[in-house]
Amino acid sequence: MFEVRNLSYKYPRNREMTIRGMNFDIRQGEIFGLLGPSGVGKSTTQKIMVKLLTDFEGSIYYRNRDLKIYDKDYYQEVGVGFEVPVHFSKLTAEENINFFKKLYKNQADTDTLMKRLGIFEDRKKKVSEFSKGMKIRLNFVRAMLNNPVMLFLDEPTIGLDPANARILKNLIKEYREGGGTVLLSTHLMNDVDELCDRVAFMANGKIVETDTPQSLKRKYGESSVEITYVKGDNLQKKSFEMETLSKNNEFFELVRNEKIVSMHSKETTLDDIFIKVTGVESYA
Ligand SMILES: Nc1ncnc2c1ncn2[C@@H]1O[C@H](COP(=O)(O)OP(=O)(O)O)[C@@H](O)[C@H]1O
Ligand SMILES: [Mg+2]
Repeated sequence: MFEVRNLSYKYPRNREMTIRGMNFDIRQGEIFGLLGPSGVGKSTTQKIMVKLLTDFEGSIYYRNRDLKIYDKDYYQEVGVGFEVPVHFSKLTAEENINFFKKLYKNQADTDTLMKRLGIFEDRKKKVSEFSKGMKIRLNFVRAMLNNPVMLFLDEPTIGLDPANARILKNLIKEYREGGGTVLLSTHLMNDVDELCDRVAFMANGKIVETDTPQSLKRKYGESSVEITYVKGDNLQKKSFEMETLSKNNEFFELVRNEKIVSMHSKETTLDDIFIKVTGVESYA
């Protein structure tokens, strides 16, 4: 779907480059996660890819054609859900939807979407009366207005309660099941585990690691088994590496001879990987 090569970008007012040579591909039908700490350039990358920022270096190919060739028709087929929802606050939710819907040839069933997201009942209310979470849900309906083939989502679940975040994540998964492709940026590793087919971690304006979450966990994995057992009047803990467990006599001796209280396997999480590859603590 996308081929991004040596992408670099500097905001006109800044001295330093924000994006410094990014390379990645997005395959059709996948949810591709763009991950990294705040301020690393995730939103900037998305803005470049939706042609809001045009003065970039390097090349971006969308469906095998240079992105620069596309004109306004590009927006007929991509959906954009950005961080800060911008709606007409004096209009009702429904008026907002209808206003934007008119711009598109291919129009989604927005009533059903609003119902799924729990804002249909409030569609006649002015957006200025909407809560933050309602605005975010309305923003997602806006992104889906034109039945896009490619969906850009920038931190889509931030500001939603867990129940609404779940509904939104289900809609994103359904969108992929229907053949859609998604670029999702986030710093919430739980969302990534649940949604992303492949991920790219950003650090210092570059991509430092790309793979499936499963492969990354294997690559960075230091899985272990932690055993708690009774020793005299006390509880003792001991950790064993999972990899070498079958050859570890100390482990077998312990299991055979001691009174075991608990055994827990500890697997590497995306949070651990996030910290390792970006050098920054994620705040999931
Ligand atoms: N309009 C702008 N003008 C100048 N600098 C900007 C602008 N927008 C973002 N930046 C800077 O670019 C960097 C990356 O920002 P951003 O892409 O929003 O990161 P992220 O989405 O990963 O949190 C930050 O240092 C930010 O301050
Ligand atoms: Mg951002």
